[in-house]
Amino acid sequence: MTKQGLMDGDIDHILVSEEQIRARVKELGEQISRDYAGEEIVLLCILKGACVFFTDLARALDLHIKMEFMAISSYGNSRETSGVVRINKDMDMSITGRHVLIAEDIMDSGLTLSHLKKLLSARNPASLKVACLLDKPSRRECDITPDYTGFEIPNEFVVGYGLDYMGRYRNLPYVGVLRPVVYNRPKD
Ligand code: PRP
Repeated sequence: MTKQGLMDGDIDHILVSEEQIRARVKELGEQISRDYAGEEIVLLCILKGACVFFTDLARALDLHIKMEFMAISSYGNSRETSGVVRINKDMDMSITGRHVLIAEDIMDSGLTLSHLKKLLSARNPASLKVACLLDKPSRRECDITPDYTGFEIPNEFVVGYGLDYMGRYRNLPYVGVLRPVVYNRPKD
């Protein structure tokens, strides 16, 4: 980092740098392009956290893709999962007979993706896989693993590159650990 930006002071340390993300997304793009060679895929963005990873991954793919978006909330404004998954916006197209690749920012308990995979499987896609930028395997509460993982990370409160705290920090270009003083601060 060359210049201290507005949000950088709220970050304890950088966990995954912009350069590391760029290099890993390129690798994932190459791997996915090989795996699906000759096929068209539906790249499904799970809003909002996945939006940054989704757009970078899409541009790293040498494949024909259709972009689709779903909004699901599992956390609301709290730091812990409620176990409740709500669909706020469904995708527009039918995925029956299509190859679907879900792009997610993070797998934590795994409950969100587990629920979503069940729901989408019922629509009979040709295949259904998950690409997750970050994986916190130590937090898993169900039997699920991403098909493509960017980075395995420890159980720390991370923000940036799509991940938020109270809706903020999604536009940081790196993944950083939020300073506790920020989430212990009275809410504004
Ligand atoms: C985050 C993330 C996943 C989910 C992972 O979404 O994008 O969807 O939590 O947690 P889990 O593995 O414990 O289920 P969040 O509900 O924070 O919404 P957002 O993407 O809009 O920030």
